[in-house]
Amino acid sequence: MMEELKRSHHCGELRISDVNKEVSVVGWVSKKRNLGSLLFIDLRDRYGIIQILVKTDEINVPEIRNEYLLNVTGIVSKKDVPNKNIPTGEVEIIASEIKLINKSEQTPLIIADETDALEDVRLKYRYLDLRRPIMQKRFITRAKIVKAVHEYLDAHDFIEVETPILTLSTPEGARDYLVPSRVHHGSFYALPQSPQLFKQLLMVAGFERYYQIAKCFRDEDLRSDRQPDFTQIDIETSFLNQDQILTLTEGLIQKIYKDVINYDVKLPLRRISYNDAVNTYGSDKPDTRFPLILKDIKPILINNEEKLFKENKYIKCFKIENVANETSRKIQNEYNLTAHKFNLKSYIYLKYLNNELEGSIVKFLSDDEKEQLIKYLELKENDLVVIALNNILRNVNFGLGALRSELAKKYHLIKENTYDILWVVDFPLFEKSEETGEITPCHHPFTRPVDEDLDKLETEPYNVYSYTYDIVMNGFEAGGGGLRIYDQEVQKRIFKVLGFTDEDIKRKFGFFVDALKYGTPPHGGLAFGLDRLTMILSGTDNIRDVIAFPKNLSAVCPMTNAPRPVDDDQLKELGIKLIDKE
Ligand code: AMO
Repeated sequence: MMEELKRSHHCGELRISDVNKEVSVVGWVSKKRNLGSLLFIDLRDRYGIIQILVKTDEINVPEIRNEYLLNVTGIVSKKDVPNKNIPTGEVEIIASEIKLINKSEQTPLIIADETDALEDVRLKYRYLDLRRPIMQKRFITRAKIVKAVHEYLDAHDFIEVETPILTLSTPEGARDYLVPSRVHHGSFYALPQSPQLFKQLLMVAGFERYYQIAKCFRDEDLRSDRQPDFTQIDIETSFLNQDQILTLTEGLIQKIYKDVINYDVKLPLRRISYNDAVNTYGSDKPDTRFPLILKDIKPILINNEEKLFKENKYIKCFKIENVANETSRKIQNEYNLTAHKFNLKSYIYLKYLNNELEGSIVKFLSDDEKEQLIKYLELKENDLVVIALNNILRNVNFGLGALRSELAKKYHLIKENTYDILWVVDFPLFEKSEETGEITPCHHPFTRPVDEDLDKLETEPYNVYSYTYDIVMNGFEAGGGGLRIYDQEVQKRIFKVLGFTDEDIKRKFGFFVDALKYGTPPHGGLAFGLDRLTMILSGTDNIRDVIAFPKNLSAVCPMTNAPRPVDDDQLKELGIKLIDKE
């Protein structure tokens, strides 16, 4: 049997007021330095680091290497030279006893806040990566968010309900993860993309206020803010209108920011319409921490005969103050890839230097046009103007929006430690799918169209708006939701517009459409991405930093190597035969 551990204090909690106390701590060796008969050890536990001073002539010292786990007893003493960088920096423990609890092999990555380890190495040895104090801090932040959510929603009468993981496809627009059924040969469960349908059914059931910290699964291309399995704070309510839901949610946001990072969020939050967000910031999740605003300059160039201006219906731009000198052609070329993503040939740049416009298109501009541009854009010495032109407004807006964010980072225009939280509201109900070109819901097919637009559903579907809202934080979509359809007839009309046959509807959502027949209450809600919220509150822009065991960008877990081929026997049992994929 292992000897009892002695532990009177955590490493990170010792202060000057503890001087002369005898204490025992347990921790991993973070660093050691040998100075003749003196050995200095930095010992680390979850709560911080304490320096241990060992007089090697005076006590028995076991073998000590980095990441060995030690139990140290000794007297707290004031250090001659304090270390201002750590909270325990004024004191050290003069060891009277050191016990080795466990050895460690040499770790493949250094256990410290700063690391240059490749991400796949960090993920392969995730348990070591998670030993780094900065990572533990992020998980404490995550746990605090969840605690605040439970407290707030509980205080507002919400009931936490779990919904199934093995289920049918839910309509969030991504590909499903499928799970084959052994018992029902040839049939598959789908993992939920969200609990959307179930939470609506709980409203039909009369639960009135539901929430869940819910696992969701989506097979989609991964990005720095996306994982195949992620977690939502999922909320649904009955009998509230959009304003009431937003107000309730704002209270939750305010509590989370206060409890977790002691930041006061001023309410009510700003609300901007989807159209304004896209036209002004080039994004449906605008980061408004920096004041780069998109301006329409087509009217100034309306009479210009140059092909470039004549052939492009939309010409917009934004200016960045005082960077023209720093923006070389090389820098400009770096952004061509971004332009291509939005079907733009390239961005066009104008510089305002020595009271004159400079740039490749200046030769096409009349004096009057130049004058108007300078005036309209209020150009000052050394300003840079970035222009995009195209025949599709969306390409121009979103193309400029993407560059706006990249340049704001490049030129350090984003104020650190500020939080920019706003609602984007009034989304269109439908959009054209970029993949298929077909009409598709902007959110999901159960979203309620605004009452005034109902008669345009069949005739002008793209001009129908919906009761939907996204919560945007520092340019990330942290959450989104809407009011739902509770009228079967409207639901049927929407399905028709989306091209679903009666057969499709019955097969895919029959159970759900049936439920709408039984006195469904008006209802609506939203879901936060818990991982994204944690990212924002812990100041990282990588979602993998706030998920304990995430997948890499190829949707692989480098630690377990999932996904992996399975044994033939398992496939046989499921009645599945693998074929070559094209
Ligand atoms: P939506 O699809 O907008 O809405 O998702 C809600 C929030 O979940 C987060 N999120 C993700 N986070 C990490 N990885 C992903 N792959 C991922 N996908 C989404 C985002 C997003 O804002 N059922 C509706 C909500 C509702 O209408 O109530 C839904 O799932 O932060």
